[in-house]
Amino acid sequence: RKKMMSPSPTHSDSSGSSKHDSNQDSWEIVEGLRGLPANMQEPHRQEGLLLKRRKWPMKGWHKRYFLLENGFLKYAKHGSDLKKGKLHGCIDVGLSVMSIKKKAMCIDLDTEDNIYHLKVILSHYYTHQLQIFSTDCVSSKQECPGSSHSLVHQVSNESKASIPESMSEFFDAQEYLLSSSSSENEVRHYLLFFSVVTVTSRRSTLPSPSPTSSVSLWNILRNNIGKDLSKVAMPVQLNEPLNTLQRFCEELEYSELLDRANQTQDPYQRMVYVATFAISSYASTYHRAGSKPFNPVLGETYECDRPDKGFRFIAEQVSHHPPVSACHADSKNFTFWQDVRWKNKFWGKSMEIVPMGTTHVTLPAFGDHYEWNKVTSCIHNILSGQRWIEHYGEMAIKNINSDACQCKVTFVKAKSWSSTVNEVQGVITDLKGKVVHSIFGKWHESVFQGDPPSAMCIWRATVFSVCADPMPVDHEQYYGFTQLAVELNELNSMLRPLLPTTDTRFRPDQRLLEEGNTEGAEEQKQRIEQLQRERKKVLQDNNMTHQPRFFKKSKNDTWVSNNTYWELRRDPGFGKMDFPVLW
Ligand SMILES: *[C@@H]1O[C@H](CO)[C@@H](O)[C@H](O)[C@H]1NC(C)=O
Ligand SMILES: *[C@@H]1O[C@H](CO)[C@@H](O)[C@H](O)[C@H]1NC(C)=O
Ligand SMILES: *[C@@H]1O[C@H](CO)[C@@H](O)[C@H](O)[C@H]1NC(C)=O
Ligand SMILES: *[C@@H]1O[C@H](CO)[C@@H](O)[C@H](O)[C@H]1NC(C)=O
Ligand SMILES: *[C@@H]1O[C@H](CO)[C@@H](O)[C@H](O)[C@H]1NC(C)=O
Repeated sequence: RKKMMSPSPTHSDSSGSSKHDSNQDSWEIVEGLRGLPANMQEPHRQEGLLLKRRKWPMKGWHKRYFLLENGFLKYAKHGSDLKKGKLHGCIDVGLSVMSIKKKAMCIDLDTEDNIYHLKVILSHYYTHQLQIFSTDCVSSKQECPGSSHSLVHQVSNESKASIPESMSEFFDAQEYLLSSSSSENEVRHYLLFFSVVTVTSRRSTLPSPSPTSSVSLWNILRNNIGKDLSKVAMPVQLNEPLNTLQRFCEELEYSELLDRANQTQDPYQRMVYVATFAISSYASTYHRAGSKPFNPVLGETYECDRPDKGFRFIAEQVSHHPPVSACHADSKNFTFWQDVRWKNKFWGKSMEIVPMGTTHVTLPAFGDHYEWNKVTSCIHNILSGQRWIEHYGEMAIKNINSDACQCKVTFVKAKSWSSTVNEVQGVITDLKGKVVHSIFGKWHESVFQGDPPSAMCIWRATVFSVCADPMPVDHEQYYGFTQLAVELNELNSMLRPLLPTTDTRFRPDQRLLEEGNTEGAEEQKQRIEQLQRERKKVLQDNNMTHQPRFFKKSKNDTWVSNNTYWELRRDPGFGKMDFPVLW
C-alpha cells in the first residue's frame, strides 16, 4: 500500500504538525532547508544520545552518541569516541529523505545507500533537544520500524511547488507528551525543536525567461579567431542578466566550507575544506555554458550583504584595459578576496577563458592565509546549441603563513564524453611532500575525502542533491540560474536607497535583459559602452588616471579593499555622496 503525503508539514503553521492524515501515528516528511537556503539560518550544533536500530549483528536498538552539525549527522559509540574522530558513521542529512513519527519519536533517514532508523531515548536524565535538519523531499512510510515494517519511498517534484513564498514562521520548542513507547514503556516529556528562522524573503524566480537568441555568433566570431574577445563588442543576446562582479559573489555559494575550516584544528583537514571550497566555486558554472555575464564598466560596484550566510561582499571594476575586477568578502569566520582578469580566446569551436590573478582566504582562528590560482575554463561547441563548459588545469593552494601543508588540485581534462567528465583530484601534502589526505570528486557535484569505498563526502552541490532537484523551477528556461544566482540582481525598496548609484543592480541594460526586453537591453548596452569611452577620453585629455573607489593596489600589485565601503554606507550613506554617472 502506497500513500503520498502532503509535503508541507514543518512550516504550515505554528503547530508545525502535518494535517495530511487523520491517522495520528502516520509518518510525516521533513523538508525545507536545502531547498531554501537563502531564507534560513543553519541550526546550531546538537549532540546527544539516540537509539539506533541495528539489523546485524545484535539486532535491536542500541544507544549511540550523535552529533548534528553543518548538515551532517555523525555518530559513535560514545561521545568521547566522537571527539577522537572514531566514527561509526556520518550521514549527510541534507541529502537524505527524512521522515519522523512524533508520537513514537522515531526518525527515519534514507540516504539511498543506507536506511537509518533512530529513536529518541526515553530517559529522565535528559531533556532531549532534537533539531530537525530537513530536506526538500517527500517520501512516505507507514510504520515505525520498531514494529513490522514496510518501506515505501517516493520522491516528488511537487514538493517544491508547495513551499510558501515567505517562510516567516519560527517553530519554537514543541512539546510532546508521550504516553507510551513501544520499546521502553516510559512516560516522558520531550522537546522537539524546529528552528527555522527567516532572515529575509527573496525572490524565487527571475521576472522573465531567457529570450531565444537569433544572433549569428559565427558572423561575429569568425573575424576574431585567436584574439582576445574581451575587446570585441558582443550582442546582449549572448549575456545572462548577471555581471562578472556578481559571479564573483556566486563563488561564495558554499562559504560554509570556510566556516568549517575556521573550526578545524588540524591544518591538513583545514586544507581539505579550503580546497573543497575552491573547487565548489565552479559548481554553478555547470548550467551556465549557454551565456556569458555582462562585463562591468570601469567604476561599477556591487555589494551583497548576506547575514544568513554570515558574509558581506563587495566588488569593483578597477581597471578597464585590461579589465580587472576586484572583490572582498568579510565574515567572522574568514576573509576572502581576489582580483581577476580574463583572457578569452576563441578557437573556432570553443572559447577558452584563461584567468589571471590570485584568490586569497584568511582564517582568523589560525592566522592562515591561503592563496590559489584559478584554472582554465573552456566553453565547447560555442556555435551550436549544445554548449558545455569544462575546467582544466592545476590549482596550487598554499598557506603563505605556514609551510606545514600544501595542496594541489587537478581539474582533469575530459578525454571525451565519458564518466570522467568534470573530475577533480587533489592531494594534501606535508612539509616533506608526503601525502596526508587525498580528495576526489566532480566539480559540479561532490567532493570526497579518502579512498573509496570508505571515502567521506565533504561537499555536495545542492544542485545535485539526490532526492529532489532544488534548482529553481524551469531553471533551463531561466539561464540555468541556481537560487542564489536568482537573488544576486534582486533590487527591493529596502536596498535601493542604501546602494551607491554605481551598483550593478542599477544597470539598465542588465535589468532590461532580466525583464526579457532584449532590444531595450541592447540599446542601453551600447549607450553605456559609449559613455565609458567618453569618460576614458576625458581622463586621457586631462592626463588623469582612474582611481578606484573602494580598492587600492597593494605593494605587490594585487587589489585589496581599502575597508571603507561599509563604514561609508552607514555614515554618511551613499545617498549623500557623489558617484560618477556610469549609465
Ligand atoms: C562561523 O562558523 C560557525 C561554524 O560553522 C557557524 O556556526 C557560524 O554561524 C559562522 N559564523 C558566521 C558569522 O557565519
Ligand atoms: C573563527 O575565527 C574567529 C577569530 O579567531 C573566532 O572568533 C571564531 O570564533 C571562529 N569561529 C569558530 C566557529 O571557531
Ligand atoms: C602627464 O602626466 C605625466 C606623469 O604624471 C607627465 O610626465 C606628463 O608630462 C603629463 N603630460 C601632460 C601633457 O601634462
Ligand atoms: C579609500 O576609499 C575612500 C572612500 O571611497 C576613497 O576616497 C579613497 O581614495 C580610498 N583610498 C585609497 C587609498 O584608495
Ligand atoms: C604579496 O606579498 C606578500 C608579502 O609581501 C607575499 O607573501 C605574497 O606571496 C605576495 N602575493 C603575490 C600574489 O605576489
